[in-house]
Amino acid sequence: MELKVYTLEEISKKIENEILNSFPQEEPANLYEPIKYIMFSKGKRLRPLLSILACGMVSNEIENAIKPAVAFELLHNFTLIHDDIMDQSPTRRGRATVHKKWNEAIAILAGDLLLALAYRKISESLPNDIHSKVIQTFNDSFVEVCEGQGYDMDFEDKKDIIPVDYFKMIDKKTAKLLEKAIVAGGQIGGANEDQLSALSSVGYNLGLGFQLQDDLLDLTADNEKFGKAIGKDLVEGKKTLIILKAKEMFNDTPDINLLNKFYAENGLQGSDVIKMIEALHKNGVFDIIKKEISYYFQSIKSSLKIFEENHYKELFTQVLNFTFSRDY
Ligand code: IPE
Ligand code: IPE
Ligand code: MG
Ligand code: MG
Ligand code: MG
Repeated sequence: MELKVYTLEEISKKIENEILNSFPQEEPANLYEPIKYIMFSKGKRLRPLLSILACGMVSNEIENAIKPAVAFELLHNFTLIHDDIMDQSPTRRGRATVHKKWNEAIAILAGDLLLALAYRKISESLPNDIHSKVIQTFNDSFVEVCEGQGYDMDFEDKKDIIPVDYFKMIDKKTAKLLEKAIVAGGQIGGANEDQLSALSSVGYNLGLGFQLQDDLLDLTADNEKFGKAIGKDLVEGKKTLIILKAKEMFNDTPDINLLNKFYAENGLQGSDVIKMIEALHKNGVFDIIKKEISYYFQSIKSSLKIFEENHYKELFTQVLNFTFSRDY
C-alpha cells in the first residue's frame, strides 16, 4: 500500500484536532476556560511540528508521532503559564496572560492540569517498547526546563553572570524541550543512534538560537506582532547574552552608566528601558547577537546532512527557515 504523504497544512490540522480532543470537558469552567484560552491563542506550534517531521524524516511515516508531539505542546504551554507568573508578564500571544485575565491561583492550577493532560496524551497510543523511551525523553525535558527556570530567576539579582552561565541556563530552560521533542519524534520513527545524535544536535542548536532570537525580539520586535510586552527582560533584570555583550561593548562609552544602573537596581524602569534599547542598537550589540543566531542556524544545517532527502526533511527545513526568519 502506498504511504500517504501529508502537507504542512494537513499536519497542522492533525495537531489542532488532537489538541481539541485533549479536553472534551467543560467543567469546572474556571479550569477548562483558561486552558482552552492558552491552547487556542496564536502559538506557533513549533515543537509538535518539528517532532512529527523528525519522525517523518527517519521513517516516512508520521501517524504514531501525533499524540506524543501534542504532549510536548501541552507541556510547553504549561511552562508558559507558569513562566508568565514568574516573569510577571502581562501579555502573551497578543492577549492578557492567564494569571492577569484570571488570577495566579487559577494559572497555577491550569498549568498543573496541562501537565497532567500531557502525560495522559503521551501514554495513549505508543507501542510498549517505544513508549518507555519516549516517556523518558519527555521526563528529561521537563526536569531540565524546571532547572533552567530556576537558573533564570536566580540570575535576576546576580551581578557576575558570564556567557557560559547564560548558555547553560538557556540550554535547560528552552533548548532541551525543543531538542527532546525532536528526539522523541526520531525515537518513534525508529531512528538509529547516529540519527538520534544528529537530531539531538539539531534540537540543541535550534534551541539556543531560538532563545537568543526571543531575547533579541524582546527588545526589537513590533509589540503587536510579537504579542508580548517589549523590553520586559530589561525590567526584570534578565541576564541575557545581550546584556553580557553590552558589558564588554559599553566600556569606555557613556552608556556604561545605564548598564551600571541596570546591574545596581536589578533592572530598569520607564524611559531608561527605551534609552537602553537605543544604546544597544547604537553600539552594535544587536548585530553581534544576529551573527550568533546565524551561527546556530548553520550548525543545524550541517547536522541535517546525514538524513536522506525526503518529503518530511523538506518540510522540516521549511519550518526551520521560517523559525530563523521570524519576527514574532
Ligand atoms: C516561547 O516559545 C518561549 C520561549 C522558549 C522563548 P514560542 O515562541 O515557541 O511560543 P509560542 O508557542 O509560539 O507562543
Ligand atoms: C522561555 O523564557 C523559557 C520558558 C518559557 C520555559 P522566556 O521567559 O524568555 O519566555 P517568554 O519570552 O516569556 O515567552
Ligand atoms: Mg522566563
Ligand atoms: Mg517569560
Ligand atoms: Mg523571552
